[in-house]
Amino acid sequence: MQTQTIYLNGSFMPLEEARIPVLDRGFIFGDGVYEVIPVYSGHPFRMEQHLRRLQNSLDAIRIANPMTLARWSNLARRVISLNPWKDQSIYLQVTRGVARRDHAFPQKTAPTVFMMSNPLTPPARNLITAGVACITATDNRWLRCDIKSTSLLGNVLMRQRSAERGCIETIMFRDGFLSEASASNVFVVHGKVISAPPNNHLVLPGTTYDVVMELAGKARLPLKLREISEDEVRNADEIWVTSATKEVLPVTRLDGKAVGSGKPGTVYKRIYRLYQEYKRTVMRRG
Ligand code: PDD
Repeated sequence: MQTQTIYLNGSFMPLEEARIPVLDRGFIFGDGVYEVIPVYSGHPFRMEQHLRRLQNSLDAIRIANPMTLARWSNLARRVISLNPWKDQSIYLQVTRGVARRDHAFPQKTAPTVFMMSNPLTPPARNLITAGVACITATDNRWLRCDIKSTSLLGNVLMRQRSAERGCIETIMFRDGFLSEASASNVFVVHGKVISAPPNNHLVLPGTTYDVVMELAGKARLPLKLREISEDEVRNADEIWVTSATKEVLPVTRLDGKAVGSGKPGTVYKRIYRLYQEYKRTVMRRG
């Protein structure tokens, strides 16, 4: 096993040596926010967008950002350089810090800042060529899914349901409309038209979702942001799930039934190629 070097509250150390006090509010209340940033050939992908979303999550839960954007960016680059893998995924977390247990915010407590890196393996070839299976469920999470909170119990339980059925994700509906999946955003295609739910409090504003939007826009592919009913999802020609670690994956089975032709669709193949080209451009630019 290669050493994994992490950052915790100002120090770099091997992962095994990192310790958090049991009264950390991240442990006691899940009172914190996080980000997952992919790194390709040493280059962070859409780091600025991730750090902007971090700022929004911190603002939403009223934790003062412990660092400037430039410092976050330098720290991420340092952690990347201290770890051996070419492709990595940076995980960073900020909690409200250590205090005696009381639901109300503590006074003058410094936030806990943690950053680690893990090896990143892009999705296996067969997932791209054959597609993945998902199940569906009613979205029973809270109404601030726009905050990238470490309180992930709702998402964890949803993801576990799909894991137990050998599926990659659980796609959720709230009041009969598509929201997102347990750890990804969801797109559907009818004919040539791509649709996705708009960003609001019911979904996480995905960084990969934004890349897909930009690429579809540049390629002039028809794209609609709108509420999508459960029936429309079930009758879609294509369904995709997107996330920083999954990139864009075609869903070819939903609740055991074929999606469209049961194979990744033509619009998917186009977007996948555009996404890979864009990744290569980012890596070249550095
Ligand atoms: N999750 N929606 C949810 C609920 C998510 O947890 C994620 C990502 C996304 C996609 O966001 P992005 O494209 O910025 O990764 C949407 C990360 C990867 C995780 O929790 O590991």
